[in-house]
Amino acid sequence: MKVLVTGGAGYIGSHTVLELLRLEHEVTVIDDLSNSSIESIRRVEKLSARKVKFYQGNILDKNLLRTVFGRNTFTTVIHFAGYKAVGESIKEPLSYYHNNITGTISLVEEMLKYRVHNLIFSSSATVYGSASVPPYNENSELGQPTSPYGQTKLIIEQVLQDVVSSNSDFKVSSLRYFNPIGADESGEIGEDPKGIPNNLMPFISQVASGKLDKLSIFGSDYKTEDGTCERDYVHVTDLANGHVNALNWIEKQKLSVFEVFNLGTGKPSSVLQMVNSFQQHTKQRIPFEIVDKRPGDLAAFWADVNKAERDLNWSAKKSLRNMMEDTWNWQKNNPNGY
Ligand SMILES: NC(=O)c1ccc[n+]([C@@H]2O[C@H](COP(=O)([O-])OP(=O)(O)OC[C@H]3O[C@@H](n4cnc5c(N)ncnc54)[C@H](O)[C@@H]3O)[C@@H](O)[C@H]2O)c1
Repeated sequence: MKVLVTGGAGYIGSHTVLELLRLEHEVTVIDDLSNSSIESIRRVEKLSARKVKFYQGNILDKNLLRTVFGRNTFTTVIHFAGYKAVGESIKEPLSYYHNNITGTISLVEEMLKYRVHNLIFSSSATVYGSASVPPYNENSELGQPTSPYGQTKLIIEQVLQDVVSSNSDFKVSSLRYFNPIGADESGEIGEDPKGIPNNLMPFISQVASGKLDKLSIFGSDYKTEDGTCERDYVHVTDLANGHVNALNWIEKQKLSVFEVFNLGTGKPSSVLQMVNSFQQHTKQRIPFEIVDKRPGDLAAFWADVNKAERDLNWSAKKSLRNMMEDTWNWQKNNPNGY
């Protein structure tokens, strides 16, 4: 299949591009490299021994989109491009609303013009908010996300649903990711955050490599087994394969459709369990301190993954051990990222 991947140089995008190339799909990427490096694309090409057609630029740039859609034919677009840092979105809401929402509208307008009707969208478990009791299933009540970032995911899902209602050809699969971690087992590509990481695993691995002194754990008196927050961590390669299955699913749909799928493992792990698992499987010591809770953090949530298993024929295969070993393999081979 001929697939356009927006944000394909980023963390989840690069792993998905790799899986697509391994299956001999033809891949075109648009990425403005605002949060990534062209080196990820080079490495993906090397690992797969295949080429990516790469356009550096922003999906808000209509001239660029016209060039890309005018010169290529696509069956499906996988749309990763967007900003994703929760804390930054609270400080810079307008740039998040503009880039994520207007960016998606700009992309979908061109898709409709060029009659490209299949879209796979990167959504997030953050849309569920606090109203529902975990495990979240796709019918769980949607919440009031605590950040502009989370709001953009909720709003984009609504926009896409409205486009589907107005167009009898348009098909959307919105994938709600839980907590992607890990790296391709080659250790050649992985998560490369700029500045101090916001997420647990890059933080742990930068402590292990000596870039950071110690891990801060936000709160230890949550109502969970060990008092620290629990999340559903899913290996990024499993997640990438979820996109491959969604691609096959969407191609088979005959009618216009908007369908959401949770992608997670269905099992929660606490912050302390993650630290212990990393130490056990990598033999690295992770000093940590308990600090104040962060406003807006929920005690625990994880996915009900039955729908993805049933309809996409997808389930996460990799263990916590794989997640730890692969994270460390990437970090120790690339202590300064790409
Ligand atoms: N990583 C997570 O924990 C997580 C969880 C849930 C959902 N998501 C979503 O998945 C998607 C990918 O996440 P990621 O972790 O790979 O992030 P990432 O920042 O590594 O990748 C996003 C990519 O999009 C590019 N980009 C951003 N805005 C762009 C624009 N306007 N035009 C062109 N390129 C642009 C960036 O340069 C980057 O390469 C995002 O939409 C994110 O919100 C991520």
